[in-house]
Amino acid sequence: MIKGTPSRTALLTAVQRAHHFLTAPEPKVLRDDLALALTGLGSLEAVQSYIDNMVDAFAALSDTSIAAIFMARVDWAVCMRSRVVEERLAEARKRGVKQLVILGAGLDSTAYRCLDLTAGLQVFEVDHPATQQWKKDQLAQANIAVPENLNFVAFDFENQTLNEALQAGGVRQNYMTFFTWLGVQMYLTDEAVRTTLSVMGQYPKGSEMVMDFMSPNYVLADKAMQNSVDDLQDIVSNMGEPLRSKYSESDLDAILKQAGFTQVNALNTGWLIDNYLGGRSDIFDMPREATSILTALI
Ligand SMILES: C[S@@+](CC[C@H](N)C(=O)[O-])C[C@H]1O[C@@H](n2cnc3c(N)ncnc32)[C@H](O)[C@@H]1O
Repeated sequence: MIKGTPSRTALLTAVQRAHHFLTAPEPKVLRDDLALALTGLGSLEAVQSYIDNMVDAFAALSDTSIAAIFMARVDWAVCMRSRVVEERLAEARKRGVKQLVILGAGLDSTAYRCLDLTAGLQVFEVDHPATQQWKKDQLAQANIAVPENLNFVAFDFENQTLNEALQAGGVRQNYMTFFTWLGVQMYLTDEAVRTTLSVMGQYPKGSEMVMDFMSPNYVLADKAMQNSVDDLQDIVSNMGEPLRSKYSESDLDAILKQAGFTQVNALNTGWLIDNYLGGRSDIFDMPREATSILTALI
């Protein structure tokens, strides 16, 4: 991230959730009806123009057809990972989870939108100070109320100790906890990724984490995907947020087990299409075997 400035990729993913909510056909995967307000863009036209500019940036690097396909895939993937969180959190509540910790929260709206899902939990949004301050400003401008159970923890994954920051922010290490870590791993160094996972892995049995991850090109399912990830690398670098680490599913599985997680479950695209889109692979045009989201239980 550019020093002292909010994450631009956090705006991008919120724009994608807004775009999905405003334009995706039914069945929508996610209903983030606060995303548009949080982006501050104000209208579908502005959202569409933001997306079109991203497609143009990709097209300048590869060809337009791949760029459009890739951006559409990213739109769906960003919404699917949040849907997985909503479903897994609902299940985790039945086990007695007491805290929701949203690591690298960006403009995530779960705490403001899913009031039934988060009722009775202590919710913590952990993010880089610059992004978190910007989010608070966006919330105020959009007149979105901050629920009483929400706590903000300012934290830099690369330069601070997560354990200490969580404790100082009020997170109880002896409480069964649900962590989300969406769209963050790829922007961190291997060391920061391993440290973060090892901190999460110390929470009590029954705790859970949902994350998405970036794979090295050699394991990606198709050529369009491989080229697009190279392009993505250039584009997010230009946004001040270079991709810093990539993991194969098996490498990440091993790191998670070493960190203290006992069950690791990678959700492939086929599972997502079957469960969230009634098998409509024409809507989410992505190889069924590709994986980028995983859930891990302690
Ligand atoms: C692509 S955004 C994802 C935001 C959100 N989780 C979502 O799904 O929309 C990346 C997030 O990681 C955070 N981030 C990146 N590097 C960080 C760092 N070194 N310390 C703290 N947060 C960081 C950014 O502030 C931003 O909120």
